[in-house]
Amino acid sequence: MKFDLTPLLRPHIINLLPYTSARDEYTGKEGIFLDANENPYGSVTDADHNRYPDPYQLDLKEEIAKIKRVKPSQIFLGNGSDEAIDLLFRAFCNPGKDNVILLPPTYGMYEVSAGINDVETRKIPLTPDFQLQPDLILKAVDENTKIIFVCSPNNPSGNKVNREDILRLLREFKGLVVVDEAYIDFSDEPSFTTHMGEFGNLLVMQTFSKAWGLASLRLGMAFASKKMIKILNRIKPPYNISGLTQETVLAAIQKVDKVNAMIADILQEREYLRAEMSKLDFVQKIHPSHANFLLVQIPNASHVYDDLIEEKIIVRNRSKVQLCEECLRISVGTRTENEAFIKALKKIYTESFNL
Ligand SMILES: Cc1ncc(COP(=O)(O)O)c(C=O)c1O
Repeated sequence: MKFDLTPLLRPHIINLLPYTSARDEYTGKEGIFLDANENPYGSVTDADHNRYPDPYQLDLKEEIAKIKRVKPSQIFLGNGSDEAIDLLFRAFCNPGKDNVILLPPTYGMYEVSAGINDVETRKIPLTPDFQLQPDLILKAVDENTKIIFVCSPNNPSGNKVNREDILRLLREFKGLVVVDEAYIDFSDEPSFTTHMGEFGNLLVMQTFSKAWGLASLRLGMAFASKKMIKILNRIKPPYNISGLTQETVLAAIQKVDKVNAMIADILQEREYLRAEMSKLDFVQKIHPSHANFLLVQIPNASHVYDDLIEEKIIVRNRSKVQLCEECLRISVGTRTENEAFIKALKKIYTESFNL
C-alpha cells in the first residue's frame, strides 16, 4: 500500500516541531527525575499521581494491539474519540478553505469540530434506511475535500452501513475516510481495521466509552497507518491521557470476559426493549439496531420527551433531526430501568393522548 499523506496535510504541520520532554530522550523508569518540575514528595491523594504519565502510552498500546489485532504503532489514543476528531481537522483542514463531507443524520461532533476549526461541511444525507449514497458523496468531492466521516454502526440510527459502499469511498476518494466504530462491539460486523493494510487513507475510530463502560475515563482509539498515527502524535497535547486512565484501562483489558458478559446483557435488554415497545400500538417504527440504543418513531415525540423528563427519565430527542422526524433515541438500560421507561411511556400515552 503506497499512499502519500503529505499533500493532504496543512503545509505548516509538515514542518512543525512537536513539544519534546526529557522523557522522550530517557525512557527508563528508574532514576532521579529532576526534569519536569514535579513534586518529589508524592501527592495529596492516597495514590501517587505526582509524575507525568507516558506521553505515548506504550504499555497500554501493547495490550490494545493484542486485542485489536493491530500493531502498537498503528494506534493513537485520545482524550475520547472526540480528541482524535478535532486533531484530524487541525492536521488536515485549512480553515476557511478546505471542506469535509458529513452524512446526516450522524454523530454531532464532526460538525461541531468542523465549526470550531472553521471548516466547511458538505452534507449528503443518508437514504431513508440510513445507508450511504456513494454516487452523490463522490460527486460532492472537490480538490479541497479532505475527509469523509462515516459512522457505522451509525449514531443516531443504530444500523450498520453497507461495507461495499465504504470500500468504494476508500478506493475512489483520494482524501481520508474516517470510519467511526464507537458502537462496533454491539455488532456482528467485523471492524474496518482489517482493511488498514489495503488503504493508507483509512482511519478507524473506536472508544472505551461504550461497551467497556469507561466513559468517564475518556479514552478513544484511532487505528491507521503508522504515518498517520505519527502525525496525530506530533500535534496532540503532550500528556493527553492521564496516568490514572492508562493504569485503569491496562487493568480493564485483562477483563475481556466481563466486557463480553456486559455486551451480552445489553443486547438481551435491547431486544427486551424492542419486544416491549412493539406491543404498544402508538409506536410507529423501531429501527434496526447494531448499537446499544434504539431509534424509535412515536407520535408527539417532543411532547413525550418532555413528559419523560417529568418522570426523571432522560432519553435523546432526535425528532427535529433530518430523517429522524418524531424519533427518540433510547439508550439500553438495565432491566429495572427499561421496565421503568416502558411503564412511563405507557402512562404518558394513556394520560396525555388517550391512546
Ligand atoms: C459515533 C460516536 N463517535 C464518538 C463518540 C464519542 O466517543 P468518546 O466518548 O470516545 O469521545 C460518540 C459518543 O456518543 C459517538 O456516538
